Amino acid sequence: MKIIVTDSSDQAFTRAADMIADEIRSTPTPVLGLATGRTMESIYRLLVQQHEAGTLDFSGTTSFNLDEYVGLPPTDPNSYNHYMREHLFAHVNMPAGRAHVPDGVAADLDAECARYEAAIRASGGIGLQLLGIGETGHIGFNEPPSAFDSRTRVVPLDDVTRRQNSGMFGNDPERVPERALTMGVGTILEARQLLLVAVGDGKAAIINDALNGPISADVSATAIRFHDNVTVILDRDAASIWAQKRG
Ligand code: F6R
Repeated sequence: MKIIVTDSSDQAFTRAADMIADEIRSTPTPVLGLATGRTMESIYRLLVQQHEAGTLDFSGTTSFNLDEYVGLPPTDPNSYNHYMREHLFAHVNMPAGRAHVPDGVAADLDAECARYEAAIRASGGIGLQLLGIGETGHIGFNEPPSAFDSRTRVVPLDDVTRRQNSGMFGNDPERVPERALTMGVGTILEARQLLLVAVGDGKAAIINDALNGPISADVSATAIRFHDNVTVILDRDAASIWAQKRG
């Protein structure tokens, strides 16, 4: 595992965006796994800037997002489908049919999860999977406990996550959907390369658990330690407890 610690969050975002841009440039038909959340906003902004500067072409790119809230249609401003259009898809030249987000309002959610897994397989599999980390240690929405061989499925969201994500819902955790569709930990581990990004001291304790703590289904991010091609990019604040414990 390669762990990069930067002096500032902006440097962390730049390193991450450059890795994604390199993947897009160096692969004829790149398949990206994408995440949402506050951490990713700056990374997408940098990718959009590169595209607008004419140095990054998304025309051959396919993407699969990690997760979506159950019950929120793409038109809902809090849906991850909407987030992705707002922060990335509307600003780059990725063909619309190649930008995949799980359908949170599918009539048959289990069938939607199976369809999503099949679509990832049919694309040839994810080359680079971008990951954030939640306060519960989730990657995607793999809340504790999540088996390391879990697949795309419907999950109940942890109360901690509903509070963490309540900012978009008028700071009311009760308004955050109770369930989500998420790629499984097993699905994520099949990507050829993982890139986890975390910034800020609010992530320091869970980053230490993920990198130093016991490997456990109770902290799904610990699963990345089983993968042989992982880069973790942290700013100094997110790395602080991990760095201290490491000595
Ligand atoms: C969302 C996702 C989540 C977030 C995590 C961190 O698609 O995959 O695992 O990456 O909850 O969210 P932020 O960046 O808002 O702290």
